[in-house]
Amino acid sequence: MTEIGLGIVGCGGIASVHADAAQRSGFRVVSCWDSHADRAHALAAKVGATASTSLESLLAHPSVNAVVVAVPTDVHAHCAKAALAADKHLLLEKPMALTVAECDSICAAAERSKGRLQMGLVCRSASASQHALHLVRSGQVGQLDFIQARGVRRRGIPGLGGWFTTRSRSGGGCMIDVGVHLMDLALHLAGWPRVLRVSACAASRFGSPIAAYRSAEMWGGPPRIDGTFDVEDAAIALLRCEGGLSIEIDVAWAANIPEGVARDGLLLRGAKAGVHFEIFGSEVRSVVERDGDLHDEVTAVQPPHGWDAAWDAQYRRFGQMIGGLGEPAATAQEGRDLQRITAAFYESAALGREIEVR
Ligand SMILES: NC(=O)c1ccc[n+]([C@@H]2O[C@H](COP(=O)([O-])OP(=O)(O)OC[C@H]3O[C@@H](n4cnc5c(N)ncnc54)[C@H](O)[C@@H]3O)[C@@H](O)[C@H]2O)c1
Repeated sequence: MTEIGLGIVGCGGIASVHADAAQRSGFRVVSCWDSHADRAHALAAKVGATASTSLESLLAHPSVNAVVVAVPTDVHAHCAKAALAADKHLLLEKPMALTVAECDSICAAAERSKGRLQMGLVCRSASASQHALHLVRSGQVGQLDFIQARGVRRRGIPGLGGWFTTRSRSGGGCMIDVGVHLMDLALHLAGWPRVLRVSACAASRFGSPIAAYRSAEMWGGPPRIDGTFDVEDAAIALLRCEGGLSIEIDVAWAANIPEGVARDGLLLRGAKAGVHFEIFGSEVRSVVERDGDLHDEVTAVQPPHGWDAAWDAQYRRFGQMIGGLGEPAATAQEGRDLQRITAAFYESAALGREIEVR
């Protein structure tokens, strides 16, 4: 593959993961930009790129063919539309934007652009997810009745007091942050059935008062004691889909759960087999009934290094899409659909009843 010049917009926590995966996967990071110039300089120095002084100058860089947008969610739409207007290929971090209307404006910009858009929904690219998809698509799981998707941290609120925990900047808490990955992966594995109704409950217990929150480490930290926490830190949702499938999502940034009593990952309950995997794990567990007995199996997945392998696979798909050799690993339309379901989630949690997905 010809080397693709990449510009990185937003040089915070996830940007260096992008930069490393991109450099391993046939991209060259050419330029970095962040509203905090020191962050752009630090990432640029680390990867041998230059730091741009504005979004416009990054987009005008002659060697930037593709852009990754990894800024807080309230800035996604602005940066994404600017990149697409400049005809750059775009890898846009999840969640797509704050609202469905913003997603619509990004989709419209993508329609007009010579650049193509791939959503940053990296969990799909994990080896275990790929293996589970193979089991579903080859018919080995049979008709799916239930998917249970779980991502529960005992203490893992990101950037407490900053944009992650400020609804006007993030769109919400753990559901739009982590739950959107679980929702996406469950729907992707199920062949993207239409979600008809959502019933959701959300709690906000651990993030406030900010000074009282205890955790050993914090993504996007340290906490800002005088900051804002007005989002949910735990949520449960039931999605009823066309065709009878239900998807249960259990997600938390913080929860009092005894160690080891519940496993994160996805559990697929089908007519022929049941499948469980941790998204970035190295094995997939399954059970089938044969001659009246239940047979359990554990399959090692390849490549086994879950997190790095998933990021590399995401960038390989992005590179193939840019080269005209394939479709995006996750489409703009899917990013928009996730936003519709997320909006129904928040409406349901606020009203305390089931909501039709519009
Ligand atoms: N795919 C994943 O697993 C994953 C993991 C973490 C974060 N994310 C997503 O990546 C994005 C960034 O998350 P993060 O954890 O890196 O956050 P972060 O807070 O660590 O980094 C965000 C960066 O954006 C910069 N920024 C803020 N406002 C800006 C603006 N107006 N213009 C330019 N730069 C601006 C900040 O200075 C900061 O350096 C979010 O959309 C988040 O949901 C995805």
